[in-house]
Amino acid sequence: MKDIVEQLDERRGHARLGGGEKRIAAQHAKGKLTARERIELLLDEGSFEEYDMFVAHRSTEFGMEGNRPPGDGVVTGWGTVNGRQIYVYSQDFTVLGGSVSETHGAKICKIMDMAMQNGAPVVGINDSGGARIQEGVDSLAAYGEVFQRNIEASGVVPQISMIMGPCAGGAVYSPAMTDFIFMVKDSSYMFVTGPDVVKTVTNEVVTAEELGGASTHTKKSSVADGAFENDVEALIEVRRLIDFLPLSNREKPPVRPFFDSPDRIEESLDTLVPANPNQPYDMKELIEKIADEGDFYEIQRDFAGNIITGFIRLEGQTVGVVANQPMVLAGVLDIDSARKGARFVRFCDCFEIPILSLVDVPGFLPGTAQEYDGVIKHGAKLLFAYGEATVPKVTVITRKAYGGAYVVMASKHLKADVNYAWPTSEIAVMGAKGAVEILHRADLGDADKIAAHTAEYEDRFANPFVAAERGHIDEVIQPHSTRRRVCRAFASLRRKSQTRPWKKHDNIPL
Ligand code: HXC
Repeated sequence: MKDIVEQLDERRGHARLGGGEKRIAAQHAKGKLTARERIELLLDEGSFEEYDMFVAHRSTEFGMEGNRPPGDGVVTGWGTVNGRQIYVYSQDFTVLGGSVSETHGAKICKIMDMAMQNGAPVVGINDSGGARIQEGVDSLAAYGEVFQRNIEASGVVPQISMIMGPCAGGAVYSPAMTDFIFMVKDSSYMFVTGPDVVKTVTNEVVTAEELGGASTHTKKSSVADGAFENDVEALIEVRRLIDFLPLSNREKPPVRPFFDSPDRIEESLDTLVPANPNQPYDMKELIEKIADEGDFYEIQRDFAGNIITGFIRLEGQTVGVVANQPMVLAGVLDIDSARKGARFVRFCDCFEIPILSLVDVPGFLPGTAQEYDGVIKHGAKLLFAYGEATVPKVTVITRKAYGGAYVVMASKHLKADVNYAWPTSEIAVMGAKGAVEILHRADLGDADKIAAHTAEYEDRFANPFVAAERGHIDEVIQPHSTRRRVCRAFASLRRKSQTRPWKKHDNIPL
């Protein structure tokens, strides 16, 4: 009996070594942790339950029968993050380059099936040379099985992809279908075709980092939601994100203890909006002053800065924030910001996370570049996402809410539940200058007349009271009491129930 027990320990020890000391050292030399070290950092200490440690591939091609490492290049199982269950897979680059075989894929599918059945998020740590070349179509089939599960799990359990090494070819499409992608600077990349193929086909000379590194995907393509300095920071930050999320669509988001009075008054907010309507201010200041303990987890910080998306807590409960940022392009809506906002709103709605919208938007960005690239369709994404979202929706207009962008930004007309405006709000079809130039074209040469028309327009429309008279704004509130008003609004919506007409699914403009 003792021998058998020792044998198990020995087998486990062998499996845990993955590709062996030399390859582990090579992994470390690249500044990367091993698959197991990553899991250890991601999960609460001692909470990892591993499955399929001894699974080995069945391939006999290219001499593979003599090379059957236990675990087959991926470590899978479940554990906890601050006491809450998640499933995890972590590809082991030291074993056959973390390449995906039939059995490697089956291990991932097994934990994804469990996650969906048992209602817990999946975190996938990607570090792989892609399809295992020796297995041919079997490896493609394995990817296909993972893809189908990504699709089925979408909206059922949160799915988070960590890119911590290569992720190329069709392999990128599994992360692409998950809710969030995080990358590590200088040690991870994602592309559909690598630099060599790019050179052959388009004659462009580009490095892997330029083509698909963390900076490219967080700043240019928006494929990734965040970039971190190293593996450790990435894993710590993903733990922080998980704390905001519900385990599945069958549960509400977690409620955390909070040490910040919901009645907190912020006098400084009374002077946040400058007197000059063309002067910017930092909307993040408002977000942080509303949030419990000022804690804000930003998503896609480096992309489309004219809209801010992320999570805060109010009275310990997770709230998704979408806010125009006057500091970037005056907070205008454009293709990138509409797509960014829409995807975030849809994530929140999938997982019953209430949405707070902070509005200061001068309209949609004009120009041929926007029109030719389809701002009509992309702008409609945000409109559609807000209108179909049935989670509690609370909106605060701080300054401009002009034209179509007023309607898009979680207006009453899109079934937002509670719409507040600061006294500094200007809710109108457009700003005074543009309006006067259209309405009083004949007077354009007469500065006095134009000034008088402008003053008249500002007096009538550059305020929240016309909208408040119509009931499109529920209340004009004091900036300093925004946290209290917003907390109470969400508290009043805790049992909200809104049904929508039966349909198979909608047809959001993609
Ligand atoms: C089998 C692989 C492998 C693969 C790497 N290895 N990729 N084995 N199938 N796809 C093995 C190597 O043979 C090597 O084994 C070990 O992993 C480490 O690889 P190195 O090349 O030494 O590492 P490095 O120099 O860091 O280069 C990493 C790499 C390179 C850039 C990822 O290995 C590479 O180009 N691999 C092939 C990538 C690829 O073309 N994959 C197919 C993509 S298409 P030893 O024994 O020497 O340590 C795809 C389609 C998915 O994935 C389709 C889904 C529908």
